[in-house]
Amino acid sequence: MSEASWTKGMAGVVADATAISSIDGERGELRYRGYLIAELVERASFLEVVGLVVDGELPGPTDVAALEGALADRALPAAAQDVLARLPRDTHPMTVLAVVLPLLDDAASKERPRLGARPAQRAALLALAARLPTVVAAWTRLRRGLAPLAPDPALPLHADFLRMTRGAAPDAREVAVLDATQALQMEHGFNASTFAVRTVASTLAPLSESLAAGVAALHGPLHGGADEAAYRMALEVGGPEAALAWVDAALARKHKIMGLGHREYRVVDPRALVLRPMALDLARALGPAHVRVLETLAAIDDHAAARFAAQGKRIRANVDFYKGAVFAALGLEPDCFTALFAMSRAFGWGAHALELWDDHALYRPRAAYRGAPPREVPRPTMV
Ligand code: COA
Repeated sequence: MSEASWTKGMAGVVADATAISSIDGERGELRYRGYLIAELVERASFLEVVGLVVDGELPGPTDVAALEGALADRALPAAAQDVLARLPRDTHPMTVLAVVLPLLDDAASKERPRLGARPAQRAALLALAARLPTVVAAWTRLRRGLAPLAPDPALPLHADFLRMTRGAAPDAREVAVLDATQALQMEHGFNASTFAVRTVASTLAPLSESLAAGVAALHGPLHGGADEAAYRMALEVGGPEAALAWVDAALARKHKIMGLGHREYRVVDPRALVLRPMALDLARALGPAHVRVLETLAAIDDHAAARFAAQGKRIRANVDFYKGAVFAALGLEPDCFTALFAMSRAFGWGAHALELWDDHALYRPRAAYRGAPPREVPRPTMV
């Protein structure tokens, strides 16, 4: 490859190959290992999607039971509990995750990855991913001035997560919506956080530290974070009747509407397509205040789509547009939304690390040099 072939932001660069997911931005298709995301969310359980992403095929009942067992060990190691108790209470949940993640390993999985040892690394991944919800729930309670609750290994992952955040069992509908939302955002090709994880994993750094790199990348507002901004926007707009004027004013001053537009998709993000009706159903079950937020978002989405189409721009809703409203309806604070993203994406990040270690190469791209020409350091002048 010639040095002249670089592009800004690596746009269009094929950096490596993966068998985990594929995106067709023109057709609005996202597939995990060949399966359309909408079909997966409709027909497979959350654990089946985890098995598919991590291991390559939809698991059978025995494998699902084994996965359930592997994800039941959610108690935090003492060092992680200790750090959580000491962190300043205004620490952002994503900073908390990045700090605590390297402390979530068992002694065995702290080892550097040994190539060819996939079962051990897979076990390490499941152990780490099982404990992230415990961290997010513990932090949610600590900063509300409440003591963290111990996990209950008898409960499914997301039922236990919601119970640990609020102290009461969630209903089945809430768990089902969280399962579906988390399945939707588990994996998405070589986005910035996944690429960060692959880069760190390629050096054979420990898995927990590779995942912490993913958390750091996801914390950036151009990656994670649009879900929170879209939700806050809906509150600011106030109601569907105000959406048209708000969209026109926003576009007139070239304001970027959060949750709209995507680098890959030129049509509606297939995940947003699944999420919109699901979020509205949940809101209807929870009450008029939630319905109003959803109807506001839907009105902004529809008005903006019409305005963009009239300008010849193919900008439609992405997954973040409705996600924040779902998480808020589940009782979570807006600055926690990206931490929930990380809880789910950890399975995807880990699958990428395992894939890279199966056919390992150190990541080391070249840079096109565009600095000063060769020159000589001036000799010191004699005095
Ligand atoms: N609201 C208003 N205008 C938007 C827009 C949005 N959400 N997204 C893109 N545009 C406009 C830009 O202003 C630009 O207009 P111009 O040509 O008149 O200058 C044009 O569309 C192209 O935008 P650009 O940012 O170059 O497109 P991109 O494909 O590189 O951007 C995003 C993709 C995601 C960065 C962009 O759409 C965005 O910032 N969206 C909001 C943030 C967001 O939701 N991020 C989560 C992504 S999953």
